[in-house]
Amino acid sequence: MLPLLCPPPCSVKTLATQKLKKLGRQLLKEWKLSLTQGNLYKCLDAHLLGLKVIWVPTTSSSIYNPLQPPFELYLTIAIATRFCFKLMSILDSNSIGSPSLDGEFKPLNSEEFRKQAHQMVDFIVDYYHNIENYPVLSQVEPGYLRSLLSEMSSYLLESFDDIVRDVEKDIIPGMTHWLSPNFFAFFPTTMSSVAFVGEMLCTTFNSIGFNWLVCPAAMELEMVVMDWLANMLKLPKSFMFSGTGGGVMQATSSEAILCTLIAARDRALKIIGVQNIAKLVVYAYDQAHSTYKKACKLAGVLQCNIRLLPTTQASNFSLSPTLLCTIIKADVGVGLVPIHLCATLGTTSTTAVDPIGPLANVANDYGVWVHMNVAYIGSACICLEFRHHLDEIKRVNSLSLNPHKWYLKQEL
Ligand SMILES: Cc1ncc(COP(=O)(O)O)c(C=O)c1O
Repeated sequence: MLPLLCPPPCSVKTLATQKLKKLGRQLLKEWKLSLTQGNLYKCLDAHLLGLKVIWVPTTSSSIYNPLQPPFELYLTIAIATRFCFKLMSILDSNSIGSPSLDGEFKPLNSEEFRKQAHQMVDFIVDYYHNIENYPVLSQVEPGYLRSLLSEMSSYLLESFDDIVRDVEKDIIPGMTHWLSPNFFAFFPTTMSSVAFVGEMLCTTFNSIGFNWLVCPAAMELEMVVMDWLANMLKLPKSFMFSGTGGGVMQATSSEAILCTLIAARDRALKIIGVQNIAKLVVYAYDQAHSTYKKACKLAGVLQCNIRLLPTTQASNFSLSPTLLCTIIKADVGVGLVPIHLCATLGTTSTTAVDPIGPLANVANDYGVWVHMNVAYIGSACICLEFRHHLDEIKRVNSLSLNPHKWYLKQEL
């Protein structure tokens, strides 16, 4: 891969040499395609920033247009992916042991890749064998890395062995080792040996799965696996693809909550009009994860319209349906529009559990979207003795959980 150490928005223009531009033009000639220099940059930039593909060779507006018919989009992706892959393979094979981006077009050096990949597996296994020997907290001072890495590093090509040595020498000492058996802060991170191997496969296929056509297997596998999870939790059919619903995988619970807020917001704005967005009001409580407030801001809810209701020790820090009802009534009375309630099973600070049924009764009366955040203890509900916490789940609009917190954890 092209060595890239600059943060976005990094431009290929700042990295590219004349050689890189020449490579791109030769590729286009080979495929009898025409592309302006500006668009070549955009294509390369997008690839480098991880956006994968955005180039539409048949239209003048060469940036990906979501309104395009899927087939054209599919072709676009196929062509542009081919372009990026070929360019990557050139850079890969040219960069190994070579002092510059000089070069001929060469195919990916598969034997070199095999060797490096095996070395990397050895590196990972050794890291885990030794992990207990590292201090959990890094011992470095702020800014330590800049002095170790030359300003020009991103232009210099190095051998794979040198890079691995740099990681051992400069990067590992600057890490907090979350997976150490001596790490007792926060939650475990999303890691297991099964995940390592799966991640290798994902990277190999590098599928883009934003609709069925672009990768049927990706979309269908997600649907099947989400239904497996729903079955384990004994969720009602309304939460499954085999019923009338279905789940999606997000990177974090925070993203999942944001998605539900956007759904609730758009449902309301369809009725009251976008110009009334300032009237939208949402509900959680002082025990809600801090992510809720952030998600509300991202969804465009005014800060003064985010209600964080107080809780008490007497109610085990759970959200009171009576208080919720009073507050919603007052908001409606002054012309605000309640759209979303985020309740929790297993709050982060005290593992408090909210009464789903009574809260849903109040919310349903006002057409409020109810989201159940079961990030932390949701996984436990596959056990029969805890499943009763989800008995009323059919009354809510959505729920999100973090399976990585409890399933298949830290087995290395
Ligand atoms: C109850 C609860 N909600 C939300 C979150 C945030 O989860 P994530 O980091 O996946 O966004 C957590 C995580 O610690 C949590 O325990």
